[in-house]
Amino acid sequence: MRIIRTKDYNDMSRKAANIIGALVVTKPDCVLGLATGSTPVGAYRHLVNAYLEGDLDFSQVKSVNLDEYKGLPRENEQSYYYFMHDHLFRHINIAPKNTHLPDGTEPDSAKACEDYNRVIASMGGVDLQLLGLGHDGHIGFNEPNDEFDKETHCVDLTQMTIEANQRFFNSIDEVPRQAYTMGIATIMRAKCVLMVVSGKDKAQILKDAFFGPITPKVPASVLQLHPNFILVADEDALALV
Ligand code: GLP
Repeated sequence: MRIIRTKDYNDMSRKAANIIGALVVTKPDCVLGLATGSTPVGAYRHLVNAYLEGDLDFSQVKSVNLDEYKGLPRENEQSYYYFMHDHLFRHINIAPKNTHLPDGTEPDSAKACEDYNRVIASMGGVDLQLLGLGHDGHIGFNEPNDEFDKETHCVDLTQMTIEANQRFFNSIDEVPRQAYTMGIATIMRAKCVLMVVSGKDKAQILKDAFFGPITPKVPASVLQLHPNFILVADEDALALV
């Protein structure tokens, strides 16, 4: 595990974007595993700026996203499909056919998950997986559990996650209760895992995840075993370590 300590959110975002950008330059047809949540937004902004300045070309890049709410149509502003288009895809020259998310509109969970596992397999391996960190230690939507879920599956979101994500919806009742997410094994197979963490409110869970025992009760802790895990975190998030 490599820890890159940054002075603040913007510094974290720029450093993370630089790591992703370096991969896009050195491997133009790379497969990026992408993440949502508020933390990666700054990194996406830096990637968009690098593209606009002519430093990055995404024309051959492929992407697979970690997760999607079950039951939200793509046009819903809170769907992760909408998020990715809004923050990244529509600003760069990535081919729409090369971008992939689980199909949140598929009501049959088994089918949605099998379909997405096939999509991921067809990519031939993720080169870099970007991750945020949930307040309960979740990655993607892999919530604390008694075991590590391996491949794409449908999860019941925890109350903590529903409450944390409520800020994006008009009311807590609108927050979907379920989501489709890549599994832990899929995340661990990425050649490089890059996590961005910012803010004092993440300091305790960051400490638990990376300086405590490896346990499915703190799903992110499994990343301690990844051979190429880079944590880019600001001083506030690293305050307890
Ligand atoms: C959501 C996403 C995660 C994300 C987490 C933390 O639950 N499914 O991928 O890491 O939120 O989000 P934030 O970065 O807004 O704290």
